[in-house]
Amino acid sequence: MGEILGLGCTHYPGLLLPDEKLPGGFHHLLTAPNVPVEYKDRARWPDSLLSELGNDAGVASARRYGARMADGFRAVRRSLDQFNPDIVVLWGDDQYENFREDIIPAFCVLGLDDDFGIEPWHNGNGGKPNRWNESGDWTMRLRGHRAAANFLARAMIDRGIDMAYAYKPLHIDGLAHAFTNTLLYLDWDRRGFPWPIIPFAINCYGSNLIHAKGGMAALFKPPAPEGAPLDPPAPQPWRCMEAGKAVAEIFADSPWRVAVIASSSWSHCFLSPTNGYLWPDHVADREMLEALEQSDFTFWRKRSRDRMEQAGQHEMLNWMALVGAMEALGKKPTIHDYVETHVFMSDKCFVTYQ
Ligand SMILES: [Fe+2]
Repeated sequence: MGEILGLGCTHYPGLLLPDEKLPGGFHHLLTAPNVPVEYKDRARWPDSLLSELGNDAGVASARRYGARMADGFRAVRRSLDQFNPDIVVLWGDDQYENFREDIIPAFCVLGLDDDFGIEPWHNGNGGKPNRWNESGDWTMRLRGHRAAANFLARAMIDRGIDMAYAYKPLHIDGLAHAFTNTLLYLDWDRRGFPWPIIPFAINCYGSNLIHAKGGMAALFKPPAPEGAPLDPPAPQPWRCMEAGKAVAEIFADSPWRVAVIASSSWSHCFLSPTNGYLWPDHVADREMLEALEQSDFTFWRKRSRDRMEQAGQHEMLNWMALVGAMEALGKKPTIHDYVETHVFMSDKCFVTYQ
């Protein structure tokens, strides 16, 4: 019988950069033509936003924030170290990386070579700046597990969940950012990431994927023409829970010890009109948090996609998979941290299900 460890964290791209750069995203959003002008008016900003910005445009807050994020990742990493899995399955969104106009599945599992490397800072031009000061040719050594990815896809299909699978990335060199960032952050102290991984991509952006190019581009370009047909949606939240449940049951009945990790922030400001695309929907996130703490799986299952998308919780479909898996196994969470912000784009949560 396999054993399963459940984990939740974020892949917030801001953390790739030194702390001082963290407030840049908020200041960039203030220049977006589609952010309503009334929300850009500092006189109307909540006190908590103003105090986060302080008198240095958010830099001091960013240093505290970066340290708090590091603690969250270290807590999740400790659970991984203690469990020492045979395989790590990562649920992450594909934001117009491999899911593009030529094919957009709901889910896709990636079976990679036993040994490979990614160069996250490579840009052919001296390397991208990063908080670790690593050079452009720095390589993170990783391992895939093609046999287990094959096993998983086959078992999902046999259960009636028609999984897409791939053995190599379609468009990008390396892994989609949801996976790359998670791995970089879970190795915050650069001890290496020794466990074989299976990336499990979810089309979290749905109707918005192509229009927004999987990010905040939609706020900077003319709105889609009136009456233009929307692209098809993301999979239903409850379906993501079913997919997560299937993954848990399949690996519980396998020879492997498996860590399953949902990686995404919660409400994303730039996806939510609730606060004018400038800060996250804390009300919506607290609803989800309360239900998570109480293991109220029904609340999560009944969460509508419309409600999630209004709140900018698109990427929480990754967490739906985790919560579906943990429901199937009857596990309760330990919440290491839940972090709200007005400046740093999204709320974050760090969880272990032993
Ligand atoms: Fe993402």
